[in-house]
Amino acid sequence: MTASNVSGQGTDSALFPTYARYPIALVKGEGSRLWDANGKCYLDFMSGLAVTNLGHAPKQVRDRLVEQLDTLWHVSNLFHIPQQEEAAKLLVKHSCADAVFFCNSGAEANEAAIKLARRYQNVIAGTGRTEIITFQQSFHGRTLATLTATGQDKVKDGFAPLPEGFRYAPFNDKDALLQAINHNTGAIMLEMIQAEGGVNLLDPAFAELIAQCCEEHGLLLIVDEVQTGMGRTGRWFAHEHYGLEPDIITSAKGLGSGFPVGAMLAKAKLREAFGPGSHGSTFGGTPLAMAAVIGTLLAHEEEELAKRADEMGQYLVQQLHAKIGAMSIVKEIRGLGLLIGIECHAPVAGMLAAAQAVGLLFVTAGPNVIRLLPNLKVTKEEIDEAIEVLVHVLESAEVTV
Ligand SMILES: Cc1ncc(COP(=O)(O)O)c(C=O)c1O
Repeated sequence: MTASNVSGQGTDSALFPTYARYPIALVKGEGSRLWDANGKCYLDFMSGLAVTNLGHAPKQVRDRLVEQLDTLWHVSNLFHIPQQEEAAKLLVKHSCADAVFFCNSGAEANEAAIKLARRYQNVIAGTGRTEIITFQQSFHGRTLATLTATGQDKVKDGFAPLPEGFRYAPFNDKDALLQAINHNTGAIMLEMIQAEGGVNLLDPAFAELIAQCCEEHGLLLIVDEVQTGMGRTGRWFAHEHYGLEPDIITSAKGLGSGFPVGAMLAKAKLREAFGPGSHGSTFGGTPLAMAAVIGTLLAHEEEELAKRADEMGQYLVQQLHAKIGAMSIVKEIRGLGLLIGIECHAPVAGMLAAAQAVGLLFVTAGPNVIRLLPNLKVTKEEIDEAIEVLVHVLESAEVTV
């Protein structure tokens, strides 16, 4: 590598320095393993940030993509796209939703959700109540509306003026939620686990209050399942753990197993809020993207991957408690399924680098939280291997704290 700037890219890079990149270039992936340009092998416990839920290059998705590549890549949404119907029917089958809109990313799915909620309240329900309550520490994306919805100042820095229509409440604080609801509130939007925000789990009693408030005040419930969906937490969607029935669900990341695709799912009463011309996307739901989605969803069905995530998640947490739970550096182990956070009493950036050096990849969730996101087909042996590395890096960190 040549001289590098703050992002870790060479100063001769033609890219924007938008990412603080690790000094590794990954060139090949298979299952839970990745290889860098020097042939070094890594055990992948980050899955491209909860994207490659089926592991790298899963055959079911690959075969469908290859077949579609040989047939038709793209047609405009001005035409019927049978693969979109098939993918949407599968999503409806595995959720409480009745209608699906396909887009290309998590932020776009949330953008669609915000637009749909506003349009429903303005045009269908006629209430004119358009303010959306979101939560501190949430993360909903990087477009102007979704970064405004996000409850973290760092993503908003320098981007004023921001769109109006959002109010922020502390997560899991019942009194604050009740105070935040006013005559202009139209929806509540949240993640079931604030993944980027620190692996913060929704409190079941708070979930119950949210459901009650939505019912009582005619509010729409928008659940951002971009990271928690697609089997990651041990259910198809994480809100199932809480017995919630959202009006709108957003999905992306694991939906295409690495092919970029997002989706917004909604209840039947919201269908008419988006008529022809009210929303759209050139690339949303192309035959190629739909091949990835159908392949992914069928693999989930065949292999019962949500159930597997539940079982492997339980094993992972049990082993973490047994092997690192008593260490003084470990504050808390929390999560659902295969979205696990290890909160430490010290910053974890050095531990991440130490793990990478010995071939284990994970991510952080804020300065003090290690976030584990293995693929849903991870084996017990791979979990044991990852924990061995974690024990080693946590022990070393304990000595230096
Ligand atoms: C909960 C949540 N919502 C939205 C997003 C944004 O998704 P994307 O990066 O695909 O736009 C993310 C990305 O990390 C996320 O975790």
